Amino acid sequence: MNQLKQAAAEAILAKINALTDSADLSAADIVGMFEYPPDPKMGDLAFPCFKLAKTLRQAPPKIAASLSDGLSIPGISRVDVAGGYLNMFTDKSGMAANTVNTILEKKETYGANDEGVGKTVVLDYSSPNVAKPFHIGHLGTTVIGHSLKKLHAFCGYDCVGINHLGDWGTQFGKMIVAYKRWGDRATVEAGECDALVDLYVKFHEEAEKDPTLNDEARAVFTAMEHGEPEYMELWKWIIDISLREYEKTYKQLGITFDSYAGESFYTDKMPAVVDELKQKDIMVIDDGASIVDLSEYNMPPCLILKRDGSTLYPARDIAAALYRKKTYNFDKCIYVTSSGQSLHFAQWFKVLELMGYEWAKDQLVHVPYGTVSIDGGKLSTRSGNVVLLRDLFNQAIEKVAAIMEEKNPNLEGKEQIAESVGVSAIIFYYLSSGRIRDINFIMEDALSFEGNTGPYAQYTYARSCSIVSKAQAAGMTDLHAPVDLTGTALTEEENALVKTLALFPDKVAQALHESEPSVITRYILDVCADFNRFYHDIQILSCEDETLRTFRVKLTLAVKYVLGTAFDLICIGKNEKI
Ligand code: ARG
Repeated sequence: MNQLKQAAAEAILAKINALTDSADLSAADIVGMFEYPPDPKMGDLAFPCFKLAKTLRQAPPKIAASLSDGLSIPGISRVDVAGGYLNMFTDKSGMAANTVNTILEKKETYGANDEGVGKTVVLDYSSPNVAKPFHIGHLGTTVIGHSLKKLHAFCGYDCVGINHLGDWGTQFGKMIVAYKRWGDRATVEAGECDALVDLYVKFHEEAEKDPTLNDEARAVFTAMEHGEPEYMELWKWIIDISLREYEKTYKQLGITFDSYAGESFYTDKMPAVVDELKQKDIMVIDDGASIVDLSEYNMPPCLILKRDGSTLYPARDIAAALYRKKTYNFDKCIYVTSSGQSLHFAQWFKVLELMGYEWAKDQLVHVPYGTVSIDGGKLSTRSGNVVLLRDLFNQAIEKVAAIMEEKNPNLEGKEQIAESVGVSAIIFYYLSSGRIRDINFIMEDALSFEGNTGPYAQYTYARSCSIVSKAQAAGMTDLHAPVDLTGTALTEEENALVKTLALFPDKVAQALHESEPSVITRYILDVCADFNRFYHDIQILSCEDETLRTFRVKLTLAVKYVLGTAFDLICIGKNEKI
């Protein structure tokens, strides 16, 4: 579609320039003005003439009529005038051959662009607070973050994925107090994260009754900030145990990070930041604490140091941003967190700007997302009233395994496939709606093999794989050779599928610019719907006409490529068989 838009823009521009010498438009401007007619019967691409009315001093329908007169565009077979629009019809067979040939040539790189070449983007995502449970609230940051990383890499960016672990702060004081009072090494080693969560929950229950426990925890954390050896040793051990657990979840999701530099990593970098804030006269003391006043920007103050001199979350973020700029020289640093932290980011972004770092204005980007609940909050929770991510995945895997057992009991490697399909079902469901919306997870809907779900999309992918392998087994070997459809008319189903496949590069660019993986998820559903219609209504392998049979198999292979790439972009598994 991009090539076609370019060709159409150039032809229309030449026409406009022949009508006036004061249009002051470029082909790129025209490309940006194109629309897609709501009904394919009206055309495949539309050019609205309303904006030209002023320059040309004519009514839009008249302009459309003059522009259409003698207009010839390669790849367009017909141009209609409809009101103030030029409605263009593509040469369908030509476009189909073109699209399929492009996909077969580019394979897994079809849809990519090079806007990020030579640029670096840092992505800060997942970043759980170590002593607290890794729960469904982290699903968003983890999968949106990783998908954004994939999208950036696909568009040429050098990407650095950072897990900014919440591995420092008063919660460690709480953990250590709880462990020393009620825990023991063997139980924690055996119970891993669950045992830590139990201790954490116990601390909060006990602190309700005896608030001095909170003071004790604060004192322990202050001692940690001074490097108290016993506490530091316990702290390292707690982190190791938690990371072991997180790694299991990341492995299921196929996620790796380039850096695990968490909040504690910045401890020794804090004094320099605090000095700089003092020197630049930005920080003030308020009731013993050190803050940056942001009232001029309609925000509450940004808290840097507590009364006892220990550093706070925003201060560590400021230190981390300065360190990352120096280390990676990023063009963009993206933070993916729940929208509950929007103010936090706005505040410290502003502080960096006040410190004179101009790049903070446009290179630091907060990508927020809404809240998640499960089955209206009815799902049973282990402890602390949260649903652990691991439990959610395990439930999904179990249910998918049961469905698969019924559908395809002899499938080879079924455990692994059920794991991939189960986890992917959760991701797919989560990434189906826009990220800002609050989501209520209905497990049954997410796991169904019918409807607009992950399992349905994966089933469709497996179907495309199976057709391709059957064709290969039947002797069709040169599936990547270009097709020629001159003089061949295609069916409506084929044309619709081709048109959707041609949109992939546009969707990738849109998902990237809007930081919105759901654009890809919804696009996958469009491809699946068009492909399934094609599969059900049209003969593929049994088609008698050789040109058509070959084309249909190649079209199926193109679907396999596009779905496979799109699955990768939203971090869901590709299984050739389900
Ligand atoms: N650890 C935080 C949390 O779980 C998220 C950290 C996000 N990244 C950052 N640089 N602040 O809420």
